Amino acid sequence: MDGVDLPRVIGHRGAAATAPENTLAGFLQAARLGVRWVELDVQLSADDVPVVFHDDRLERTTDGHGRLVETPLSVLRQLDAGAWFDPGFRGERLPTLAEALTAIAGAGLGLCLEVKADEAWGERTARIALATARQLWPADRPPPMVSSFSRSALAAAARVQPDWPRGFLVDTVPEDWADQVRRYGCTSLHTRHGELAPARVRAMKEAGLAVLGYTVNDCELAQALWGAGVDAVFSDYPERLLTIAR
Ligand code: G3P
Ligand code: MG
Repeated sequence: MDGVDLPRVIGHRGAAATAPENTLAGFLQAARLGVRWVELDVQLSADDVPVVFHDDRLERTTDGHGRLVETPLSVLRQLDAGAWFDPGFRGERLPTLAEALTAIAGAGLGLCLEVKADEAWGERTARIALATARQLWPADRPPPMVSSFSRSALAAAARVQPDWPRGFLVDTVPEDWADQVRRYGCTSLHTRHGELAPARVRAMKEAGLAVLGYTVNDCELAQALWGAGVDAVFSDYPERLLTIAR
């Protein structure tokens, strides 16, 4: 893909198997493990602050309750986002996007920035998150790759940050993937690894796309995907895959 020096392995939500996902500790752990790029999920708090978080609700990965988008930053800041994973991570906070970008860029990592929002919230989330990212991401570093399941988020990204690469992210690859990828000006396609049969990967490569698969935690599977032409995989255990990535 033009201009993007993709690594073969991207740390999923940081290094989600060995540090709490989407936390500063997780991003630093990924850097320690030798990862070149990480992926994170960004959403908006109730008061429109972009924060790094995967789920719709707070319960699984914090000691809070309720929906993230209905919770103001002042409350999110009080939550513990590490103890659920391991008591050794107690005190880890749910990071703002600004804090995460500073840590990630500071560690010299590349970034896949996934805008996590439903269609109704996608435009707003992408617009606000990308304004923060534009301010904080060092201009002399390769820009983040912006991906989303939300079409409204991709359309907003194309409008507000047209020169940053966009990834068309789908759980199931639609019949008309080529048309959709073109519509949103995407240069990569990201999907579940089970969707990436070799013939389909070939067609995507012939269409000029970079192809990324998630979530790949097994070396044999990673090898097969790379062999089929997949450019990069998102992994919770990047250290495993890095031992065989060329
Ligand atoms: O961006 C790739 C992958 O993270 C998409 O799925 O649910 O882990 O955000 P999810
Ligand atoms: Mg994600």
